[in-house]
Formats: sequence, structure tokens, C-alpha cells
Amino acid sequence: MEKNHKRTLVTCALPYANGPVHIGHLAGVYVPADIYVRYLRMRGEDVLYVCGSDEHGVPITIKARQQGCTPQDIVDKYHGIIKESFTGLGINFDIYGRTSSAVHADNASGFFRKLYEEGKFVTRESEQYYDPEAKTFLADRYIVGTCPKCGNEGAYGDQCEKCGSTLSPEELINPKSKLSGAEPVKKKTTHWYLPLQDYEQWLREWILEGHTEWRPNVYGQVKSWLDGGLQPRAVTRDLDWGVPVPVEGAEGKVLYVWFDAPIGYISNTRELLPQSWESWWKSPDTKLVHFIGKDNIVFHCIVFPSMLKAYGDGYVLPENVPANEFLNLEGDKISTSRNWAVWAHEYLEQFPGKEDVMRYVLTANAPETKDNDFSWKDFQTRNNSELVAIFGNFVNRAIVLTHKYFEGKVPACGELLDVDREALAAIPELRASLERNLDTYHFREALKDAMGIARVGNKYISDTEPWKVAKTDMARCATILNVSLQICADLALAFEPFTPFAAERLRGMLRVGLDAGFDHRVGEQETVNTYREGEGAALHTVHAGSVIPSEAKESFPVVLTWDRLGEADLLPVGHAIGAAELLFAKIEDDAIQEQLDRLAAVRAEREAAEAAAAAAEAAKRVEPQKAECTFDDFEKMDIRTATVLEAERVPKTDKLLKLTIDTGIDTRTIVSGIAEYYTPEQMLGKQICILANLAPRKIRGIESKGMILMARQGDGKMRFITPQEVLNNGSQIG
Ligand code: MF3
Ligand code: ZN
Repeated sequence: MEKNHKRTLVTCALPYANGPVHIGHLAGVYVPADIYVRYLRMRGEDVLYVCGSDEHGVPITIKARQQGCTPQDIVDKYHGIIKESFTGLGINFDIYGRTSSAVHADNASGFFRKLYEEGKFVTRESEQYYDPEAKTFLADRYIVGTCPKCGNEGAYGDQCEKCGSTLSPEELINPKSKLSGAEPVKKKTTHWYLPLQDYEQWLREWILEGHTEWRPNVYGQVKSWLDGGLQPRAVTRDLDWGVPVPVEGAEGKVLYVWFDAPIGYISNTRELLPQSWESWWKSPDTKLVHFIGKDNIVFHCIVFPSMLKAYGDGYVLPENVPANEFLNLEGDKISTSRNWAVWAHEYLEQFPGKEDVMRYVLTANAPETKDNDFSWKDFQTRNNSELVAIFGNFVNRAIVLTHKYFEGKVPACGELLDVDREALAAIPELRASLERNLDTYHFREALKDAMGIARVGNKYISDTEPWKVAKTDMARCATILNVSLQICADLALAFEPFTPFAAERLRGMLRVGLDAGFDHRVGEQETVNTYREGEGAALHTVHAGSVIPSEAKESFPVVLTWDRLGEADLLPVGHAIGAAELLFAKIEDDAIQEQLDRLAAVRAEREAAEAAAAAAEAAKRVEPQKAECTFDDFEKMDIRTATVLEAERVPKTDKLLKLTIDTGIDTRTIVSGIAEYYTPEQMLGKQICILANLAPRKIRGIESKGMILMARQGDGKMRFITPQEVLNNGSQIG
């Protein structure tokens, strides 16, 4: 194990505070980041772990408008929900800040101003849509109109959500302002742009030549952006929600959310460490790692690095950007707007005590190289047949038997047999692989290694059957349990990054503490700021790095450290362990069914809405005009008014009514396929129009003379034609 002598600054994409976080966010960004941070800390590395809410951007203003509140209300609400979800899942950032904070406004505008003063921006005048009634420029999202590609009337100025096309507001047919409904007009406006093309060569060298080890999905996206040629990118917007542009002549303008948000990483660090933040951000000894989802790659690999490069002043660039692909849910794309998601805060409520299960399943299925699927069945199986049946079962047997035969004290290890040696020898190998995988951001594979240790233990205890051996050879039984307990201690270390709650419970059962190796830092660096969250909230004191719940060393006679993982004497002979507790509980079918039912209801609702929308579309469809006919052709048709005298269903049919009608000429029978639209009662006494001289036909054995005139809509809906006022039957139409 090479110790990395750099300090590691880990950032997680700042989630937009306009909705709660879901399993896609967790799998893509936060769970892998948390595993990585916990692992580094276990190894005694110096880590700073930074995140926070991304509280600007147009969607937040739209949501506020929809809900009749202010953008600040929206972000306050979701900031709280998101923050709590992270804590609930054991994801404890050193700081979870917010981009609506004063520190951030100050930091982001200072950042802009320096680039501005040093001439790093270019300005450009362009024509943008403007709402003449609301007297404001309109973000693309604030313009709706008809999609030129699919005809959807509710397409946005940046995208049609129906056909998925990317649009520009100019392409919309009949554009309307979402604010006032007015027709937007073009108006000149000036914005600041970062000339990304100036950084292209540098980016090529830095990433394409210097970071061939980055994940293929990340490297590939960067390459295709660079090969496509970079353009100046606007860093300001005409909007009233955001960080005001701090220069003269920029009234009504704010920093573009994708300009201010990544600066939020720095602002949040400043908030936490007002004196020493630069020792993280501007030191060659910092290894910066950005955890993000794939839709964030261009911003973290191209735009933000170019901003930092433009700024200069020793800012560090990321050493890696391990972006994940997307997670689907039960075969469908996760979507907040379509309510197709498993929300973190709801999961925590519905599955109390199962934080680790979600962490485990999301890691086992992590979309590291391609999009992946989450299914509740798989969730249940992984819990029941992996966590419960292998990890939990092994630990339980080892601890229960130690109490049964050895009064809960680690028994002496006698002479080792091959089976013992093999089991013990497997652990250091798995550890080496685990470390290799974690060092290179292969979290799925790393989890397999950790689980491999549990498999080794479970197989070992099954093969050696200490409960049988106990009847004849207590010394041998002692050896088996000694070996088993050492493997339990290995698990208490190896699973700390993945399932920290269970690892902590296991250490409690084994009565061992954990030395995460960072204590030396407290005091060595700035003891962190206290900061206040929201109104009336408690004051939290955070110490950078003090994330792993430090089981007080004094209260445990034995303290584990990562560097001893795999050694055969982690637990000394005679050490008293605690009682066995349940490490993982089985998840029953009904809990899973409940989730599946909920999703089925969402799906059914969506399908019904889609069907209704499709029908409404179809109803508007108009058949093209038929081939021309002559007046004589028309004259051949004898169309008359008539009145329905009797009406009944034709037996054994769904569609046919038998009508007796007074045509003025005679009383006759017409069989008509209108039973889908009218009951016999509804037809009774109605005046209708008929084609009287249509050649008679037998329908279901009934002679039908003539045809009722019906109007048929695009979706097939039919209504009979009736004169605007009742006329005498037999009146000619034409
Ligand atoms: N809010 C963005 C998203 O959810 C991520 C912002 S990351 C940051 O896609 F770097 F800009 F902060
Ligand atoms: Zn469309």
C-alpha cells in the first residue's frame, strides 16, 4: 500500500435545491464519493469533503412561480430535505453549504471581478427574447411554443420534452412568454463570455495527453468536445435570481448558474475554513477529485478548469473526475418531473435501519461504465442472499458459538491446518485487490472484494463445522473460532467504507474501536468554524476530517486500524466480545410489493395521461380532402331529414342499432353502427339526416334501407347530423 502524501480534496456535485435527491444521484455521485472518503480516512489520509446545495438557475425560479412562493423559499425547503437525507445515509460532508449564502455571493463575485479586470472575458451583444409586458428578458425555459419537430404545443425554448429535441427559442412556432403570455420580442443585450477556445490546446495537453487514465466515458466526452471545437461560453444571464454581476452596467444581470455553482466548492471550503482554505485549493500538495454524474462532465472537465486556469493564482486542477453514467429504475429513466424515482428521504422513512442496504445495492449496481438498472427485486435479493445469508450469517455464527463454548472470550489458536491457512491467506489478497480498486475508483469491484472476505469466512465456518467439532475436540473448535473471529474483525474494517452503520455495529459486538488515523490533525490545522443553518437551528461544530464516528478509544480495549487488515491476530486471545446482534435483517416480500405497487400506480397514471393526450391529438387530426366530384355525382345522392320512431339494439352485437324511421316518404328500417355512441333511448324521437337512396343491404339478417349521416372526428368519435331547427321529415338536403 503506497501512502499518498498529498491531501485529498473531494467534492461532490452540488445538487440543485429544487427537488429531493433520489437513488440516481446517490448511485452516481454521493455513495461512491463517501466510500472513497471513508476509505482514505481509514488509511490515515488527510481529506476534506465538500458539498452543498446549488441554489441558483432558472428551474428554481420557475418552481417558485408555480408554487406562488419565492425562489428562496424553494431552496430553503429542499436544502433542508437534501441535507438530512445525506446525513441519514451516513454521508457526512465536512461542510454542506449553499450557493445562496453570503460567503458564496462574495466569493463568486470576487472570482468574476478578477477575471473581468484582467480582461479574461469577451463581451458580445446578441438579440434575446424579451417580454414587453413583464419588461424582462426571458430565459429559454420561460418561452413556450410549438415544437417544429413534433408539433407539441408545450415545447420549451431549450427543449421539447415530448420528442426530446434540443431547441433554441428561435425555432419555436408561436412563441409565448410563460410570464405574461405575451409574444416575446427580440431585444439587444450584452453578456460576458469566457473564450473557451483559448484554453483548447491547454486542455488537450492536460487531459488528452496527461490523463489517459481517466474513465473512458469521461475521457471520451472530453475528447469529443475538444474535437468539436470550443466556443466562447456566456457566463452571465439576464435574470433576477443569482449572484449579481459585480460590474457597472450590468444591472439586472446575474452570473450564469454554471459559472457560480462550481465556485461554490471553493466558497463552501472558505465558509468552513476561513483562514486555511487556500491550503486546500491552492497547494500543489492537494489532490482534487470531483465526483459527478455524466451530465456534468463538460462543466467539470472543460469549463471549470478553464475558469481556474484563467484565474491562475495556483488553483489546483482535478486529478480525477470519476463520473458515473445513469441509473434507471425498473427499466425506465429516472425522472423527477414524471415522479419516477426512489427518493432518499422517503426511503429512509420507509426502511429505517436499512441505510446500508441501499448503499450496498447502489454500489453493487453502480453505473460505472454504462447505464444500469435498479430493481426492487434485486434490492431484496442482494439483501437477503448476500448481506443476510453471507455476511450476517457468518458473523452471527462466529459470535454465538464463541459465547456458547468459550464464554464470549476469543479462544486460543492452536496449530493451523490447511483449511485455516487458506482462509487466512485469502484475506490479504482480497485486501490488496480492494485497495487497488478503491485507489482507481472501481467501487463495484471493490465491494466484491469486501464481500469476498465475508464469503471466505462463511465458507470457512460451514466447511469446518465448529458446532460438530465441539463435541469431540474443544481445542480444534477454539482454533476455528479464533480464525473466524479474526475474519469478523477484518470485515469490521473492510466494510466501513461501504456499510458504515453495520461496520460500527459489528465493532460494537466485537468490542473493538476504530482508529481512523486522522486524529493527529485536530489542532494541527484550523479548528473549524461553527456555522449556523437556517433560523433557530442548533449550532454545529465541525472539525475538518472528523467524519468517521470515532468510537472512543478508551472504551474499547482493542482498536483496529486499516493497516492491520488481514493480520491473523487482530483480536487477542481472551478478549471479551459482546453479544450477537442482528447485523442485517431479511426483507420480506410485502415490503417490496409495496414499492412495486407504488411504482405501478405512477406508471398507470402516466400511461393514462399519455393515452388521453394522444387521443386529444388524434381528435384534432383532419383527413385530407377526397378526390374532386361533379355536381352530378352529388346530385345522385338523395339526402333527407327523418325522425327516429323506434330504436333497439341488434341482439348479439356491440355496435349496431336497429332504427325505425319516418322519412316523410315512408317508414323504414335502417341498421346503423352507432351503438358505441348512442343508446336506443338517446336516439328516440331525434331528427336526423339520411342518405335515402342507398341501395338496401342485409345486415345481420335485417334489411337496412339507407344510411344515417354522421360526422366523424379524427379520433373516431361520431355524432349524427341534425338540422339546426326541426323541419318536416323528407326535406331534401343539398
Ligand atoms: N446542480 C448541478 C446538477 O445537479 C451540479 C452542479 S455541480 C457544480 O447537475 F459544480 F456546479 F457545483
Ligand atoms: Zn417535439
